[in-house]
Amino acid sequence: MGVLPMNIKKITVLGSGVMGHGIAQVSAMSGYEVALCDIDQRFLDKAMEKIAWSLNKLVEKNKISGEESKKILGRIKTYVDLKESLIDTDLVIEAVPEDMNLKKKVYADLDKLAPAKTVFASNTSTLPITELSMVTTRSDKFIGIHFFNPPQLMPLVEVIPGAQTEKELVDITMRYVKSLGKEPVLCNKDVAGFIVNRIFIPLVHEAAWSLEREHAKMTEIDAAVKFKIGFPMGIFELADYTGIDVVHKASYEMHLRDKKVINLHPMIEKLFKEGNLGQKSGKGFYEYKSDAYERVNLTPEEAERYNPLRLLGVAVNNACWLITNGVSNKEDINRATKFGLGLKEGLFPIAERFGFANIVDELKKAAKNYGSFYEPDETLLKLTH
Ligand code: 3HC
Repeated sequence: MGVLPMNIKKITVLGSGVMGHGIAQVSAMSGYEVALCDIDQRFLDKAMEKIAWSLNKLVEKNKISGEESKKILGRIKTYVDLKESLIDTDLVIEAVPEDMNLKKKVYADLDKLAPAKTVFASNTSTLPITELSMVTTRSDKFIGIHFFNPPQLMPLVEVIPGAQTEKELVDITMRYVKSLGKEPVLCNKDVAGFIVNRIFIPLVHEAAWSLEREHAKMTEIDAAVKFKIGFPMGIFELADYTGIDVVHKASYEMHLRDKKVINLHPMIEKLFKEGNLGQKSGKGFYEYKSDAYERVNLTPEEAERYNPLRLLGVAVNNACWLITNGVSNKEDINRATKFGLGLKEGLFPIAERFGFANIVDELKKAAKNYGSFYEPDETLLKLTH
């Protein structure tokens, strides 16, 4: 393989949507020169507006000065011409929509147009890094760098090496993530959903099953998730915030690769097909005033009407699967759920508070009624001893 750029100076971010614009911003905030590339100047203009809004919020809160904000904006240049955006770039972070064929086409183009020194990273939520890397002639210079929404505020970044990724690139990537002031967590195996999405995405479906099976209200489930488990948002609220399109595509891709990971509920696909994409379209599970940042009003009183044990059980069961299969460990899963989902404590201390034995009983009951998806994982069973 060619020489790796030990000193990353210029980063090209491909795709200026929810994730792309945030990745461009946090990179520019740490002094990198950023080329933000998309297929239409209108998308780029919207992305720059969002970056300016976000920087303004940070100025308001005295996190950065007005002068710094101007310098940061000055470090980001927008491009509709891919080739131009790649001139002299050290690292490409691809954040285009979660469609395998689209991403493969993008990487085939990138491989032809990018300088030999350029390292490729994908911000994919769920797609296999190794399969994506094989489209290029530089699978050793290819890695997963997975940010969380909003990248400006969420400290976690998952780092996912593919089967061919050079060890040195893993170290360079960890250094890049730390240079952003973020918390890298290494995902040891390139499995569907990596660490956090393996926990988060199935929860959205499980919450939808709870609506149906337990006749609970959406705000009751969300309030319990927030006030009893300790998520900063309810699950339906978080799905709307993340984007129903993102949740749907991630669900589809994860389920395609691993039927055991997710108990699909048709409501997510229905919302997606109706164009109810969450906050960004003004309607998802909830309705919103506009596409701007807005929160759902949830109260501790409503939380009292719902027991979120089954939801927590599904989350912990998937977390235990990650341990059983050598993808991650308890400590990293705690860090990942704290920094990537904003949980007050890590997932395992929360589960301990509810009681592992109670969780296992609840899962066994669900397995009896609704099938083997709920069977407790062997690591979870060991935690009850
Ligand atoms: N930049 C700067 N400021 C921002 C911002 C941004 N991009 N987005 C929101 N803010 C501001 C808000 O406007 C608000 O400002 P204000 O105080 O002036 O009103 C402030 O940040 C947030 O305060 P809130 O009281 O509204 O909300 P919280 O204290 O709950 O924090 C949050 C907001 C950080 C989004 C928090 O709710 C959280 O952590 N939510 C969970 C997010 C999460 O789980 N993300 C991961 C999803 S999964 C994923 O991304 C993976 C993908 O592959 C699917």
